[in-house]
Amino acid sequence: MSKILQFEHVSKTFPGVKALDDVSFSLRSGEVHALLGENGAGKSTLIKAITGVQLADPGAVMRVDGKEVRANSPEIAQGLGIAAIYQHPTLFSELSVMENLMIGRNGWLIDWQQRRKDAQACLEQAGAAIPLDLPVKNLRMAEKQLLEIARALSQEARILIMDEPTASLPEKDALHLLGLIRQLRADGVGIIYISHRLEEVLEIADRMTILRDGKYVATHDAKDLDRAGIIQLMAGRSLQAMYNKQQVPIGETVLKVDGLTCGAGNLSNVSFDVRAGEIFGIAGLVGAGRTELARTLFGITPADSGSIHLAGRSLAVDSPERAIANGIAYVPEDRHLHGVVEDMAVIENVTIASLEQHTKRGLVDRASEEMAGAEAVRRLGVKTPSLFNPVRNLSGGNQQKVALARWMAIQPKLLVLDEPTQGIDVGAKAEIYALMEQLAEKGVAIIMISSELPEVLGMSDRIAVMRQGEMVKVFEPGAATQEAILEHAMEVSVAS
Ligand SMILES: Nc1ncnc2c1ncn2[C@@H]1O[C@H](COP(=O)(O)OP(=O)(O)OP(=O)(O)O)[C@@H](O)[C@H]1O
Ligand SMILES: [Mg+2]
Repeated sequence: MSKILQFEHVSKTFPGVKALDDVSFSLRSGEVHALLGENGAGKSTLIKAITGVQLADPGAVMRVDGKEVRANSPEIAQGLGIAAIYQHPTLFSELSVMENLMIGRNGWLIDWQQRRKDAQACLEQAGAAIPLDLPVKNLRMAEKQLLEIARALSQEARILIMDEPTASLPEKDALHLLGLIRQLRADGVGIIYISHRLEEVLEIADRMTILRDGKYVATHDAKDLDRAGIIQLMAGRSLQAMYNKQQVPIGETVLKVDGLTCGAGNLSNVSFDVRAGEIFGIAGLVGAGRTELARTLFGITPADSGSIHLAGRSLAVDSPERAIANGIAYVPEDRHLHGVVEDMAVIENVTIASLEQHTKRGLVDRASEEMAGAEAVRRLGVKTPSLFNPVRNLSGGNQQKVALARWMAIQPKLLVLDEPTQGIDVGAKAEIYALMEQLAEKGVAIIMISSELPEVLGMSDRIAVMRQGEMVKVFEPGAATQEAILEHAMEVSVAS
């Protein structure tokens, strides 16, 4: 296998951060090369340097097929046969699916029928069943991710870079993608693969390169590393068990939902309750209605009928403001839409929901705000050079931690977490689980929506399964298995 891409002496300096420090990396044709490291290790920065989205510091050398090149812009990189799926979708939300697939493809003859056919084929290859004419803003997070994949495939690149392609994909779509990657590998495509889902990495990678704090640590054949070995290299220390669920006393019913129906959210007749100290896991496939349920509980798409009781009181949750005022907090899956305000400083993002705790006679007490913010940032291990850095400049996983830190500060009655550890490294995951437990211990009722079954099984008390807008099953503590959850989620040979 030939070295299709070599990248040497790559450094990247941001104000206050050395994101990459003399890193070297090489990719062979026909291999899947995983790039691993904790949140903020420099993975995405390395990718952006390869694709010319961000220029590396002077001194970096890049070779394609042994020949020195300068990929100083995304267009040049594309011309060299490099395609990338970025961690944060770079789609144009006002444009249609079709238009997004066509952008940057000026070489095509204007044969609309052919264009549509090609676009359709790419979508199918990616496993995305989405209409070509739908505006991208109407897509779900997972569909956006599949569209990104389709767009990268449409470039027929020899070097394919995937930064967290499965982060918001449920099991089924993720498996499809892995199959596709194997196929591309067999065709000789070189693939750089970034993922915090280590099971997936162990399954698909031929080689692995590990970064830590912007520095190159090691490259190994995948067969020489196991999970513990990878974590050791990533963190520079070994980690204890991931799920260490404490049994906290389950208290009174905090949330009681009866016959919740929402046309806009495609929810029908959902009834369940969650009690103080309970972690109520919700599993299901994409489109099963899990995120819709969260959005209805938070007042983004208010219910058409049915009732919501919080701490015994009937509640009309018709807006997020109303939800927050009543002690409902929500950390959405798509944090770029609702989770963090990218241009605002870390500190402001963290304290925005708890400002009244720091307000006296209408004036915000900055010192008290900063202390609380600093504490939340420290507890979650958010990696940022300063509290005043805009969130935009943090790594993907660290942005997620900021979104969580905000709600940790207000101690809600009900906390709804949608894919809380998506894109979070293994070490930080354990920190987030520990925080969930602390909140549960204080009597917060927690709803955790997750597509990662080990997480659902490891962290939940009861586990509900949703399918086509309905809650089709609730497992009592300890009663669920991975297979049983999938059976209910996919409606295959359902007993009972
Ligand atoms: N535009 C920027 N301005 C300032 N600092 C930045 C910028 N982009 C990245 N950084 C910093 O560079 C470091 C590496 O970030 P990077 O996004 O490469 O991490 P990552 O390994 O991809 O992490 P994750 O797993 O969380 O996605 C981080 O400390 C981050 O805060
Ligand atoms: Mg990243």
